[in-house]
Amino acid sequence: MSSKIQIRQDADDPAFTDALGRPLQDLRISLLDRCNFRCPYCMPEAEYGEDYQFLTKSARLSHDEIFRLASIAVGLGVTKLRITGGEPLLDRNVASLVGRLASLQGVDDLALTTNGLLLGLFAQRLADAGLQRVTVSLDSLDETIFSRMSGNRGDIARVLAGIDAAVRAGLSPIKINVVVQRGVNDHTVLDVIEHFRGTGHIVRFIEFMDVGSRNGWSMEQVVPSKEVLAQIHTRWPVRAVGRNYPGEVARRYQFLDGQGELGFISSVTEPFCGSCSRARISADGTLYTCLFATAGTDLRAPLRNGADDEEIAAILKSVWLKRDDRYSELRKPEASESPLVNKVEMYRMGG
Ligand SMILES: C[S@@+](CC[C@H](N)C(=O)[O-])C[C@H]1O[C@@H](n2cnc3c(N)ncnc32)[C@H](O)[C@@H]1O
Ligand code: SF4
Repeated sequence: MSSKIQIRQDADDPAFTDALGRPLQDLRISLLDRCNFRCPYCMPEAEYGEDYQFLTKSARLSHDEIFRLASIAVGLGVTKLRITGGEPLLDRNVASLVGRLASLQGVDDLALTTNGLLLGLFAQRLADAGLQRVTVSLDSLDETIFSRMSGNRGDIARVLAGIDAAVRAGLSPIKINVVVQRGVNDHTVLDVIEHFRGTGHIVRFIEFMDVGSRNGWSMEQVVPSKEVLAQIHTRWPVRAVGRNYPGEVARRYQFLDGQGELGFISSVTEPFCGSCSRARISADGTLYTCLFATAGTDLRAPLRNGADDEEIAAILKSVWLKRDDRYSELRKPEASESPLVNKVEMYRMGG
């Protein structure tokens, strides 16, 4: 489109891969660290009560700062942008940021991840602004289990209405993320498939990950994707299909009866570090190069201290060139507890 903003491209620099040969392709932007849910696997209520100090507005990057970082990253070769959080729809101006990001030449995928509670209000505005797709997290269709897994904050009817609004707005294909936790929702996975099969939405089952250090993760609560797949295959036979693009983390399957697609994100039992091309920027402007990071690189200070675009790009590039993270591959799958303490929480760095 001629209205797209052109920026300098370093993307064809063949040397620009990390220490393990992985390109910088995706950028996830955590818009804010707050959330209207308290999913126990992410922000357990006991840890994130009324007194918890979330980032103040001034500590968070402004939309101007986010746009600037995103445009610099796109100049370095990023083609996929995802807005996430925390809950990104708690930012009532999110559509205007989407509109700005959609104007960047070189972005071929612009998506947003949400818990769906406010999606009914935002779907059309987001689509009008240029958002291409949404991913909605919905762990169970059983009211009691859903309520438990959202920390008693969710409302299934509203989330489903949000998904319908997203369909009407054209934000398809819609992906539905289901975190599977042993003894919590693993007996409801077939219901989720039954509900969404044939709708064109792609359900993705995510293994409960040892992200952060406040969610009480243990291996006993992880249901290996293979187990979920076997359960589904017995009821509705599926076949594996290839990746849509290099670096796609979900293993894809199609129903043999033509009723659509599903996916598995199996970071615990089948790590995909080898093709990980993602960087994340937290709401306070810290750059993280791994979901399981314990530290990141502050970009907010240089942004606010007058660094020009070339200087910011140089920081991004130098961090990426040194990147050798492969936490999930190094983690011993049989370890029953999370091996590192003080890992950054998922809702902070952007899931
Ligand atoms: C951190 S949330 C942020 C966006 C939005 N609030 C949402 O829930 O979709 C992004 C994704 O991370 C997933 N997630 C959070 N904690 C997780 C964990 N410990 N293991 C696996 N997935 C997790 C959520 O289910 C969600 O699909
Ligand atoms: S998974 Fe999403 S909705 Fe649930 S607490 Fe984390 S950020 Fe909020």
